[in-house]
Amino acid sequence: MKPSSSLQKRLGLGLTLGTTLLWLAATVGAWLVVQHELNEAFDSALEETAQRILPLAVLEISNRENPREAQHVATLKMHKEYLTYLVRDAKGQILMQSHDANPKIFNQQPAEGFSTTKKYRLYAASALRQTVFIEIAEPLEHRREAAREALLALLLPLLALIPISLFGTWMFVRISLRSVLAYRRAVEARGVGDLSPIQVARLPAEINPLAEAVNHLLERLRKALETERSFTANSAHELRTPLAATLAQIQRLRHEAPEGPLRLRAAKIESALRELTRLSEKLMQLAKAEGGGLLSEAPQDLIPLLAHVVDEWNHSGGHRIELHLPTRTSVYSTIDPDAFAILLRNLIENALKYGTADQPVEVSLTDQALLRVVNGGPPVPEPVLQRLTERFVRGNSEISGSGLGLAIAKTIVQGVNARMKLISPATGRRDGFEVCVWLPLASTVEC
Ligand SMILES: Nc1ncnc2c1ncn2[C@@H]1O[C@H](COP(=O)(O)OP(=O)(O)OP(=O)(O)O)[C@@H](O)[C@H]1O
Ligand SMILES: [Mg+2]
Repeated sequence: MKPSSSLQKRLGLGLTLGTTLLWLAATVGAWLVVQHELNEAFDSALEETAQRILPLAVLEISNRENPREAQHVATLKMHKEYLTYLVRDAKGQILMQSHDANPKIFNQQPAEGFSTTKKYRLYAASALRQTVFIEIAEPLEHRREAAREALLALLLPLLALIPISLFGTWMFVRISLRSVLAYRRAVEARGVGDLSPIQVARLPAEINPLAEAVNHLLERLRKALETERSFTANSAHELRTPLAATLAQIQRLRHEAPEGPLRLRAAKIESALRELTRLSEKLMQLAKAEGGGLLSEAPQDLIPLLAHVVDEWNHSGGHRIELHLPTRTSVYSTIDPDAFAILLRNLIENALKYGTADQPVEVSLTDQALLRVVNGGPPVPEPVLQRLTERFVRGNSEISGSGLGLAIAKTIVQGVNARMKLISPATGRRDGFEVCVWLPLASTVEC
């Protein structure tokens, strides 16, 4: 699938490109107008100069002794002429010329009005019924330079505009998308079982309906899951009393039955009922683990909880559990105490059940809230190990069980944003089984 591109990047580049193109179009338009106006102003100056010089030239020529003789107009001070002119008669004979004038650049025959050659703009005017003509030449280079400078003056701000516009659009889009980013973070920060509505203030009008639709979807999902869970929990709960009653009856029957096949059959029914009771208990635990509420509002010290659960097991299970506590006197975590107890019970139950009876079960907790439960026994092959946390999946064990203990533990661990790892053989050993759980610390979540 094509990776989705950033809206901020697209808007930033698109708007900057659009502004730049519009600016360029406006610059070209403005430049054309400026060029036209400059030409008009230069032409008018040319015309004005010709009209001013012509009467003076006519007067000068008519006062001469020999009017047909060409005359260079002397300069007062040496300078480079910008405008040069020729005064000629109708046949084109030069009567007067400015000191820098080059006759080759002028038209062969003088003709009134404006004309343009490759390098010059010319203007000619006549006097004395078209017997005397003045023609003024202005180098085009001068006009071109003026047009170039005008274009540069219009283009230069564009160089500054591009980065400013890019930065401005970038920042503006970023600020505008702040609530969308907050929405994304709110979605990302959710725990696995959190299906409550996502509340983010001031979402843009285009995104708000989407957020509402997501909340509706979450609500429907939550209701569906709740129905499913409460059905599991209720059925397990409802089964408890009849199961206990039936178990009591069967136990009585076994005691009262004479030695023989009837007593054996009663014993079998009793053990099947015990299995059923355990299964309903596990189903209730699973329903609780899936039901959310696995994080407690106030941080909980794990050490007394751990010591209590281990004590319970040691009293009922023959003191096989070795407890290693951290150097710190307390380890605070955000996990709900009931959820922690369920997790711990399942792990310890497994360790006692599947570990070799002659080796102790090691339970330890570190300062960083890393819980480890280690037992001896033959190592579990890697492919089997990977599937053990799935529901109703069991290893190659003769011992009875429903295959839900590790699934419950995994659900709790995911629900508190923690991490669990099964290791076999146990770390630093050739045999055994180890479960590591990185629990969430109260201040920082370690996973
Ligand atoms: N500490 C352990 N040592 C060795 N094997 C283990 C250990 N814990 C779990 N296993 C293996 O993983 C399998 C799954 O364990 P899980 O706790 O999920 O189910 P169960 O113990 O079989 O049944 P339940 O816990 O529901 O009564 C077990 O059948 C066992 O083969
Ligand atoms: Mg188990």
